[in-house]
Amino acid sequence: MEKQQEIISMFDNIADSYDITNRILSCGIDVIWRNKACSLAFQNMQTKDNINIIDVACGTGDMIIKWQENANKNNININNIKGIDPSEKMLQIAQKKLSNVEFIKNEATNIPLESESADIISISYGIRNIVARQEALIEFARILKKGGILVILEFTKNQNPSLLEKCAMFYTKKILPIVGGLVSQNYKAYKYLPDSIEEFLSTQKLNEELKESGFTPLYTKAFLANICTLFVAKRD
Ligand SMILES: C[S@@+](CC[C@H](N)C(=O)[O-])C[C@H]1O[C@@H](n2cnc3c(N)ncnc32)[C@H](O)[C@@H]1O
Repeated sequence: MEKQQEIISMFDNIADSYDITNRILSCGIDVIWRNKACSLAFQNMQTKDNINIIDVACGTGDMIIKWQENANKNNININNIKGIDPSEKMLQIAQKKLSNVEFIKNEATNIPLESESADIISISYGIRNIVARQEALIEFARILKKGGILVILEFTKNQNPSLLEKCAMFYTKKILPIVGGLVSQNYKAYKYLPDSIEEFLSTQKLNEELKESGFTPLYTKAFLANICTLFVAKRD
């Protein structure tokens, strides 16, 4: 099986336990990072009315829930919000949680939506899983309106870790696969997580790719000993 298909099948296999494993592994902290991502995107938006949001690699829909909650808090009127993901099983769970949202089963490199139709595109913990990443970034630039906002939350590679960051990396590399493996009964999937971070880009490299794909980085912030990084960029 080709690498991209293997990754998608892996998410199909862990879909049922994905939410509970996520909450346990992140101790709920991911909620704070998601909220920060939403509020920063809203602050950088040109318009607050009738906005269209696309959440790519939406998985079980947690980021969409955060968009809706934060829009309500900030008096932002969402016209339309859609979730895109190639994993059938992840989407089934998302659809159960969010019956009014439209989900589309597709990869990020080929999104069946009109050019310049979205105000915000988000991708949380998804970009690392896309083999043809640069193709996907160009697809995001196509779908976003000029001045539209791209929000990426991701675990990035840390090439020069401090002592505290080494401790955080020990957690991600050694403890997380064991706990994730036990809860999901799929050790391989949770061993893939640190391995894929190791293969992924540094923060600086991802910002360079964003610039090459038609974006201006506005804000880059690392959380919790550089475990997770938030990127907010504007479509040129
Ligand atoms: C770690 S999960 C993140 C899910 C969700 N965004 C969240 O924050 O919980 C990664 C998701 O990326 C999706 N994915 C894998 N390959 C993809 C691709 N080529 N295009 C879009 N999504 C992909 C998987 O199916 C999975 O749902």
